[in-house]
Amino acid sequence: MKWQDGTRSNPAKCREKDTGRFEIVARDGQARIGKLHTEHGILQTPCLLPVINPNIRTIEPREMWDKYGIQALITNSYVIWKHDKLKDKALAEGVHSLIDFPGVIMTDSGTFQSYVYGDVEVGVEEIVKFQNDIGVDIATMLDVFTRPDMTFSEVEKAVDETVKRGQISIDAANGTMINGPIQGGLFPELRAKSAVEMSALDFSIHPIGGIVPIMEQQKYRDLVKIMLACKSNLSPNRPVHMFGCGHPMLFPMLVALGADLFDSAAYVLFARDGRILTPWGTERISEIEEWPIIMPAICNYSPAEVRAMDKQERTILLSKYNLEVTLQEMSRCRQAVRDGTIWRLAERRSHEHPALREAFLWMVTNPARSTMDPLLLDEISASKETGEQRGKWEENWDWLVNSQHSPRNGGESWGGIDTHHRPHVEIARRRLFARWKSRKSGDVIIFHGASAPWRERVGDLVERICSLDNEIFVQTPLGLVPWGLEDLNPWAHIEGPDWLWKRKPDYAWVQRELSRLGIHDRKIITVDISDTEDLHNRVFDLLEIKAMDRTPELKKRAQIVDKLCVLNNVDLDDAIELCKDSTFVMSRTGRIRNMIDAEGLHLFSPRLAEGGISITVEGARKLHALRKQSTPTGFITDDYSFHPGEGPAWVVVDEDAEPFVAQGRNVMHGFVLACDPWTRPGEIVLVVNSDGKLLAIGRSQSTAKELSTFTKGIAIKVREGCP
Ligand code: GUN
Repeated sequence: MKWQDGTRSNPAKCREKDTGRFEIVARDGQARIGKLHTEHGILQTPCLLPVINPNIRTIEPREMWDKYGIQALITNSYVIWKHDKLKDKALAEGVHSLIDFPGVIMTDSGTFQSYVYGDVEVGVEEIVKFQNDIGVDIATMLDVFTRPDMTFSEVEKAVDETVKRGQISIDAANGTMINGPIQGGLFPELRAKSAVEMSALDFSIHPIGGIVPIMEQQKYRDLVKIMLACKSNLSPNRPVHMFGCGHPMLFPMLVALGADLFDSAAYVLFARDGRILTPWGTERISEIEEWPIIMPAICNYSPAEVRAMDKQERTILLSKYNLEVTLQEMSRCRQAVRDGTIWRLAERRSHEHPALREAFLWMVTNPARSTMDPLLLDEISASKETGEQRGKWEENWDWLVNSQHSPRNGGESWGGIDTHHRPHVEIARRRLFARWKSRKSGDVIIFHGASAPWRERVGDLVERICSLDNEIFVQTPLGLVPWGLEDLNPWAHIEGPDWLWKRKPDYAWVQRELSRLGIHDRKIITVDISDTEDLHNRVFDLLEIKAMDRTPELKKRAQIVDKLCVLNNVDLDDAIELCKDSTFVMSRTGRIRNMIDAEGLHLFSPRLAEGGISITVEGARKLHALRKQSTPTGFITDDYSFHPGEGPAWVVVDEDAEPFVAQGRNVMHGFVLACDPWTRPGEIVLVVNSDGKLLAIGRSQSTAKELSTFTKGIAIKVREGCP
């Protein structure tokens, strides 16, 4: 709470049993808004921990707390340990008093000093014990820094030595939260090894170490490679900290890849040097007449006035300015995670700096990915030609895609070629190709030339021809979509220029799309619907048929079948059987509101907002009864396939949670015993007990690996209990 005199009250301690726990409260793919529970408050992530040099104070930590609402900072225990005055005061009064900061204090261990100066004279156990003695919230072990110029075997030795020091350091921390840094230099396989081995130890947080020189050299492509290799192999219930990363330009991309904490002295180091940070790069105060961003620190001064100040005053002012810009970009990232737009923010930022763009393109243009269209854009082919083979690291992209949810509310705003590579677009397409099945053997009809809603133009026509043996698709800028999914996002709601819709079907492209949908060697009939004049007759002529009567129920059933298959993983024959003889309650605008089965039970309700489908308790019971395989008994955490036809994922909860869940309460982490490997955030799951009895229907907030590791927070948001 902020008081009238501008000070803020001290933080409330977290609940004792929660100390050190991390929970996710909102997510967008691998990006997450989290809460880290500590004795000096519950830290909201992602966030920046400003670096405080205990010897040189540019912005007072107290001011950071009161004025900027900074909840956590990082300082260096080795610097404190080396200076007797600081050491004695820290040991006598504690580090919070030494620094005069009431929030979370993380300390580093001296590893970075050993990288800069060659060696440090403190012991592995000694430095952790010291951090514990001075009362830090989060200590750091003395890891072995891996430089980008080191050979594979040198890096491997450093990784092994760091792992070897791990348990000794955890023991020396004696219960204090401790950082277990991931090393591995430029070698993704060593990063992965480090991540796996450090995850096996009882660390609280995993910083990514050895990245400062990589960032200094703007090798951002290596940085994202490292990030993917580390993150996909780390235990997801531990926050990930980017050691020494404080340039706001990097935040969106790294947050999108799952970074939770950042620290940096950049705000002050750059200020000393007369440089200002912006989300698109760095500018020199000596070269500007206008501020790129107006911030409180400088709003009463022009750049010329700041240039005229003495060095100390200018450094303080520019440090504050840099800190404000940095905090602003971090807030922007958090909001984007909440809004489901973090990837778009990273995508936009990637256009602002060539090295960032290179990194971004490396990530999204993987030649081995089968579902994306290999559009021959210059920049993409150029990036492939750098010769870099992604090899076995492609699965790391699957790790990212697999955590995305789709369909999403709102329009997909067109961002050029990048739109195809958004991970949530990719999961929508992967799921479509894996789960949708053709039911007709005749010619293929492709409508093109207009944006959604297509039903207004051709809905009546489809009702007349849907009884024929033709498969009907719509051409969209994101690929072909079967008619049954005509209102499903992202295909149904793309905000972009008109020409996107005017493109004539390209035969080779259509063939590729159809073959991804499992359709080969069929005659293709394309129908331009930009002009609906005489459309019915045009199509009847093309199909060589006479006028036909409408069969609206057939069309509606086919739509529900497609949604059940693609969105809920239902087997095609089962979906057809469920929808047999069903009837429909319609909205005033002629869209399906409820599907009632042959026994009169309301089973499903398509969602009008994004084209998804809601399942009632009766619907859940029907889907539950269709299950052919046994109840899951554990967690398979690296299976990114779609298991077509095996139904909605099952999540098994323990008997303590059973009565609560059956009454409609959420499933909390720590109570999940097992789940199907295709459990994904945003997808509907059936919650069962270990005998397979249905308890509830809900929406997973988590991947299988998260369900197997988290101990705090909501695992499954229950929609309805099934008592
Ligand atoms: N600060 C910046 N990089 C590192 C690193 O790799 N390890 C530690 N302990 N601190 C760092």
